[in-house]
Amino acid sequence: MASNRVAAGAGVGDVDLQGKTVLVTGSTGGIGRETALALGSLGARVLVHGRDREAGAAVVEALHEAGAEAEFIRADFASLPDVRDLAEDVKTTTGRLDVLVNNAGGYFREPRLTEAGVEYTFAVNHLAPFLLTNLLIPTLRAAPAGRVVTVSSEAHRSGTLDLDAVESVERYAPFSAYARSKLANVMFTFELARRLDAVTANCLHPGVIPASGFMRNLPLPIRAPAQFVGSVLTSVPFSPVSSVREGAETPVYLAASPEVADVTGRYFDDCQPRRAAAAARDEGAQRRLWEYSAEVTGLQDIEEV
Ligand SMILES: NC(=O)c1ccc[n+]([C@@H]2O[C@H](COP(=O)([O-])OP(=O)(O)OC[C@H]3O[C@@H](n4cnc5c(N)ncnc54)[C@H](OP(=O)(O)O)[C@@H]3O)[C@@H](O)[C@H]2O)c1
Repeated sequence: MASNRVAAGAGVGDVDLQGKTVLVTGSTGGIGRETALALGSLGARVLVHGRDREAGAAVVEALHEAGAEAEFIRADFASLPDVRDLAEDVKTTTGRLDVLVNNAGGYFREPRLTEAGVEYTFAVNHLAPFLLTNLLIPTLRAAPAGRVVTVSSEAHRSGTLDLDAVESVERYAPFSAYARSKLANVMFTFELARRLDAVTANCLHPGVIPASGFMRNLPLPIRAPAQFVGSVLTSVPFSPVSSVREGAETPVYLAASPEVADVTGRYFDDCQPRRAAAAARDEGAQRRLWEYSAEVTGLQDIEEV
């Protein structure tokens, strides 16, 4: 099933990832699952992550059937202790991590604060990958050419980095919260790339993919027609929407292609570098976001990158 799942044009057809270990967060479904299967089919050992144990076991089984080594590690990204445990589990499992794909995330309709008192979307989509990446930097540095790939979105162009808004849900607006978290993904990537040597950091828009689980939190009257229209549009030429498998092309390209081995600090769309929004390129704001995220996650007590 998972053999040669990488679509043509992704620039990784001949790549051999034997001996490399990759962690794909949020790989129990959607784009992450397809990314995990594609990287496994190229020979990588895949660490599958998510919350749903049954779905995780199914992805591991699919990877085993394709001849790849794989294991599932559970962690809820709304919980900072869970993220720390995930990092520890990864370090115990492998001394060296070649690729970290920060993919887990979603669109969350209900206003919620996490136990740390942070707005849920910001916590899951930004703070969790921020903390995980930082905790795994020594493990990524142990690889000959570590890569961090973060799945953002074109929605980042609508985002504003209002850090007061992430400590309250009083005026919660789901799309604003999502766009802010995806802007944070891009800003984090750019700041990370400046702080890292020997490990690359890039981010991406995967396309518009109605067939993933992304719409699961939308109300049924919106979700059902959107998924129907999406499924019809996916199969037409020059479609504005993509299949889940197509959604994995850019993350797989950035995780595996030799073409981008030395590329860092860039935003990609459809396997091509693209200029990110001006707000994402503001270096002062990137530093403020970094410092804020380090404080909220307790990172400065652990390690400074
Ligand atoms: N679909 C699109 O059109 C689109 C467009 C632009 C960007 N993106 C981005 O692409 C990424 C993947 O989305 P998708 O479309 O593939 O959605 P999806 O099918 O819903 O997959 C999301 C993945 O993230 C995991 N996840 C969600 N909440 C989590 C939490 N609290 N803790 C741990 N894991 C969690 C899920 O695992 P469990 O179910 O096991 O918890 C699942 O494996 C997201 O970052 C999203 O923002 C998607």
